Amino acid sequence: HLHSLADMPIGVAVEAGGAINSILTSTPRQAIVEAHFDTVTPENIMKPFLLHPQQETYDFANADALMDYTVAQGLVVHGHVLIWHAQQPDWINNFAGTQADWQAMMDDHIATIVEHFAQNYDNVVSWDVVNEAFLDGGGSQLRDSVWRLGVGDDYIARAFTSARSAAGANVDLYYNDYGMENNGSKLNSILAMVDELQANSVPIDGIGFQMHVNMDYPDVGTFKQALAKVVSRGLKVKLTEMDVARSTLDTDRISQLTPEMQIALADRYQALVSAYLEAVPAASRGGITVWGITDADSWLNRNTSRLEFGVLFNSDFTPKPALQGFADAL
Ligand code: XIL
Repeated sequence: HLHSLADMPIGVAVEAGGAINSILTSTPRQAIVEAHFDTVTPENIMKPFLLHPQQETYDFANADALMDYTVAQGLVVHGHVLIWHAQQPDWINNFAGTQADWQAMMDDHIATIVEHFAQNYDNVVSWDVVNEAFLDGGGSQLRDSVWRLGVGDDYIARAFTSARSAAGANVDLYYNDYGMENNGSKLNSILAMVDELQANSVPIDGIGFQMHVNMDYPDVGTFKQALAKVVSRGLKVKLTEMDVARSTLDTDRISQLTPEMQIALADRYQALVSAYLEAVPAASRGGITVWGITDADSWLNRNTSRLEFGVLFNSDFTPKPALQGFADAL
């Protein structure tokens, strides 16, 4: 019971809808989620291409089915995701309109989705409002997403303001991104954005570190420094999509981790979770979410030519030593 050891939210990403590994139809996955986690993030079902397939059409049925499950199990939900350059419907990518049209369209998109869940459920406790707005190169480079080009450079501020009016004061609003645990210039870009948002009284509550990391990177010291810089802004920090890929030095193709690799993965989870707890004081902890229930569910195994074993349960639903490693850190 991982979550009962923690004084912060402990979450997992789950599939819903027609996915073969949908939490709604997989009894062994339900058993794991209900035993070990108190929070779920919908891995895909609340993304704009599924929730908002046409400008005038919202499709909440599959997301609502997941919400009903979470309510029945007493789980809370981290909403993912409102504004992102990927997994968007074509109509957004191709939207032709003036800047005012873009602004109105974005406001409506955010308000309709956030209000739907706020009005029908009381367990959506946080949202990823904007995801991956920055390029990896650092500087102050905002990605040239359609949102930036359409709405303007202030689209991030506008998105948070819209989300706050729809969600109310009690829902935590996150900016979410990857790589800043190990990329100081990207982190600095994000911190500069935070400083500007706060100077303009834009309602942001936290920064989500996706934490798609591996056995080598980040080193624990770099990671703790990155966390501390966010904490120093008075924001919460949440590890939103954690998984730990194999060492880049392991180039061989393997079908399962050796016992030694399982222990190394457990040690890595323990070290990273401990680093989070040391660097982030209790009041600033948004918690930790692992990106997938088993290795069979892990997105790391969708796109790569070698297998990865980055989450807490094996494909046969047995717990890894990494589950104990995580628990030992708590
Ligand atoms: C991934 C899902 O895990 C995959 O199933 C999907 O095919 C692509 O998206 N950053 C994010 C997540 O914010 O939404 C992504 O999830 C992983 C990277």
